[in-house]
Amino acid sequence: MKALFITFEGIEGSGKSTVANALRDAFERAAFPVIFTREPGGNTVSENIRSILLDPNNAGICPLAELFLYEASRAQIVDCVIRPALAEGRTVICDRFMDASVAYQGWARGLGDALVEDLNALAVGGTVPDITFLLDCSVEDGFRRGPHRREETGDRGMDRLELEGRLFHERVREGYLRIAKRERKRIVVIDASLPLERVVAEVIRNIRDRFRVKI
Ligand code: TMP
Repeated sequence: MKALFITFEGIEGSGKSTVANALRDAFERAAFPVIFTREPGGNTVSENIRSILLDPNNAGICPLAELFLYEASRAQIVDCVIRPALAEGRTVICDRFMDASVAYQGWARGLGDALVEDLNALAVGGTVPDITFLLDCSVEDGFRRGPHRREETGDRGMDRLELEGRLFHERVREGYLRIAKRERKRIVVIDASLPLERVVAEVIRNIRDRFRVKI
């Protein structure tokens, strides 16, 4: 089987990390080599960049600086984690990737698609996902399940992005849905308000049908 590059996207609280982990488990059960990683993060440099990006003390960061940091983190993870893993035949599951910059920085922050897409292209250098799952739910649903629950954030409190208001997150959702409309072949939109088992089953069905993988 060809190693696949699979990404998960969605607003805060959409459940993407849980579903992505469940998919990793499915690959492992079927004995397919797989790695799970996340953006921003997934290696030392990118995790350090992540700390800067999520630190509420950096609320004053300007949109362009924010975008450059996400792209820097992306260039690093592609170069030192994603591309080598794919070259070794491992499937890569990544919790967020390039579409997040288009939705968050391009649309919600208003930097525009063209700039973000150009920087994305530079950062990923052709390493684009084979399939992307957009877990779509309302901002209310996301808030109920995600960072606004103390069980979710624990002692860390909410991060810089989670502290953004409802309107910002509405824009992020809208941004994601716009990309999904443009990229119907790559992006599969899944209703994240369904019970978790159904969401996971839907993701697995898509992978089986599209790539003929027995997971
Ligand atoms: P996470 O909460 O999914 O780990 O992602 C960290 C935060 O960073 C989340 O609020 C989404 C945001 N983000 C962007 O704004 N742009 C990006 O390109 C990425 C990957 C994440």
